[in-house]
Amino acid sequence: KGMKETVGQYCLIGSSLNQRQSDGHDAAATAIVRTHFNTAVAENCMKSESLQPEEGKFDFSAADRFVEYCEKNDLKPIGHCLVWHSQAPRWFFKGKDGKEVTREELINRIKTHIHTVVSRYKGRIHGWDVVNEAIEDNGSFRKSKFYNIIGEEFIDIAFQEAHEADPNVELYYNDYSMSNKGKRDATCRLVKHLKEKGIRIDGVGMQSHNGLDYPNIDEYEKSLEAFAACGVNVMITELDFNVLPNPRGFGGAAVEQNYDYQKKYNPYTKGLPKDKAKELNDRIFDFFKLYYRHRDKITRINLWGISDANSWLNGWPVRGRTNYPLLFDRDYKAKPVVKDIIKLYKK
Ligand code: G3I
Repeated sequence: KGMKETVGQYCLIGSSLNQRQSDGHDAAATAIVRTHFNTAVAENCMKSESLQPEEGKFDFSAADRFVEYCEKNDLKPIGHCLVWHSQAPRWFFKGKDGKEVTREELINRIKTHIHTVVSRYKGRIHGWDVVNEAIEDNGSFRKSKFYNIIGEEFIDIAFQEAHEADPNVELYYNDYSMSNKGKRDATCRLVKHLKEKGIRIDGVGMQSHNGLDYPNIDEYEKSLEAFAACGVNVMITELDFNVLPNPRGFGGAAVEQNYDYQKKYNPYTKGLPKDKAKELNDRIFDFFKLYYRHRDKITRINLWGISDANSWLNGWPVRGRTNYPLLFDRDYKAKPVVKDIIKLYKK
């Protein structure tokens, strides 16, 4: 019995797929998908810079293959993401006159992008991350170009446009560090605002890029409960666990410490020491026990990557270094926690 039969009886369970995997060229990943997963999200190929690299010139080739791969492997495809300040094509914000784009023009561009993309896959996508990462940890709106040029209404416009293009598809707001009280409260305000305006929103995605010591799991649980109390589904959308001593270490000493750590615990030589591996296993299981307890609120759990070999954390915050963030190791073997999860949900 895989996670598909056990966790899958309560919620969708899956992973992000990188290009090679959604092109069907990673047999080991497909074997895991068939046994354990019933949903998948595109790691990159459905982002706006990939789909519309130049104005009016859409490139759906990779995204079409992603949706076909999902349909072939009985996975509900999740679209990620329609409006995001990162990986948005630069032309989006350039006016015809070479100056900054006008408010009206940018609204048109968002509408055209969303309408073209969402209507292409009408009836084939389970749900869309409509807006990604629009709120700061302190609860203010991120001062992205979307926000600065259009105002917070860009969020309403994005959700409305997606709904018009596919009236049956689920629509989500997705963000990281959702255990922060500021972001939690602002996200609840956003959900209530959309609902008051009669704009469809089905769920809130908690990305859940976790570490051994963050987030505080009680604060994380408060957020999970707060979002559910707003009358939307809760989804765990990009789950992984960063074991680096300085998971957000960007500069100087932090990077050196991360390098030292990863030289010492490189999976191709030593791997994690037993006590650290157990600490990581227990930490991952703590979150799945929390998910099990809130299985009435959670409709989907996605890992952000199938195996440690595929994780974006091999390149962030320190490039080309290793990490141990997922449920399957670099050889695509299930870590002990997978058995614990299956047993927990099998009850
Ligand atoms: O495809 C190009 C390739 O042609 C080129 O040779 C190569 C070198 O420049 O870059 C490749 O594109 C990279 C892409 O991943 C595909 O590998 C981009 O540079 C790189 O920036 C991009 O990183 C992605 C990142 O989002 C971008 O912000 C990661 O794979 C992806 O895991 C990560 O995912 C985000 C979620 O979408 C939103 N939440 C946070 C999460 C982690 O940052």
